Amino acid sequence: MSELSYRNLFDLHGKTAIVTGGAGILGRKFCAGLAEFGANVAIVDIDAKAVRDVAEKLDDRYGIKSIGIACDITKPDSVKEMMEQVVSSLGNIHILHNNAAGKSDDLDAFFAPFEEYSLEQWREIMAVNIDGMFLMAQAAGKHMVKHGEGGSIIQTSSIYGIMAPDQRIYEGSHYMGRAINTPAVYSTSKAAVIGLTKYLAVYWADKGIRVNTLTPGGVESGQNETFKQRYSERVPIGRMAQPDEMVSALIYLASDASSYVTGQNIVVDGGLSAW
Ligand SMILES: NC(=O)c1ccc[n+]([C@@H]2O[C@H](COP(=O)([O-])OP(=O)(O)OC[C@H]3O[C@@H](n4cnc5c(N)ncnc54)[C@H](O)[C@@H]3O)[C@@H](O)[C@H]2O)c1
Repeated sequence: MSELSYRNLFDLHGKTAIVTGGAGILGRKFCAGLAEFGANVAIVDIDAKAVRDVAEKLDDRYGIKSIGIACDITKPDSVKEMMEQVVSSLGNIHILHNNAAGKSDDLDAFFAPFEEYSLEQWREIMAVNIDGMFLMAQAAGKHMVKHGEGGSIIQTSSIYGIMAPDQRIYEGSHYMGRAINTPAVYSTSKAAVIGLTKYLAVYWADKGIRVNTLTPGGVESGQNETFKQRYSERVPIGRMAQPDEMVSALIYLASDASSYVTGQNIVVDGGLSAW
């Protein structure tokens, strides 16, 4: 009898994955990681040009099949059309990474103080972070139940879904050319991700579909020195994360390496939430 290969548990050959927000800072790394472990990958994002660029690079580099699909995950018709396209191009879906998150075009509205926050802006963010996540989990989960081969759904939360931001780190902090903060709608939506994960993990446990949360801490992506320093001082490891450092947790959750793990939250935050 041959012995189990632990390394092979991480192998994703023969699997098809969808990554929403796949053209974003973390999304493109997640797509590359899944592709390197052998999965065929559908890169799904509202940014039509970026999804094609990411898909081309994956095909060339990893020799898997990938497809970039422009889709607005807040729109049921757009999700339905995208799902049909993925299945007809890449076959049955086994992995969904529910990873997209909304940023507003109107940054003054997005970063407005809580007392002035508009319901319109609140709903715009919730529409992507929660409604879109619901539509994607529903569409992919239904498909997984039907094909009966099981699956793994991973949903991206944030450190600010499990703890409040320390408001002091935003003094003098700049990003995208302006003063920033973390709005309450972001924390609220990211806390809801964890609730949806736990619900679905139990709901689909007997269907062989596992559902887990991946929670990144702050990732370095062009914030000014003041922010980086103030944030890093709060982190036991003493720095922000690099985007690549989120990928191995995703591979673990997506693959059979985590076959007995469901309803959980893997926090990759340099220890920020540990004290
Ligand atoms: N970067 C960080 O520091 C950090 C920290 C904690 C959690 N996160 C979470 O990680 C995930 C990825 O973050 P990121 O840093 O790559 O952000 P990002 O803004 O670079 O990527 C998000 C992607 O989602 C896409 N998107 C937005 N609305 C959409 C819609 N309606 N339909 C389809 N796609 C849509 C955007 O076009 C973008 O490419 C997010 O859920 C985010 O909340 C990020």
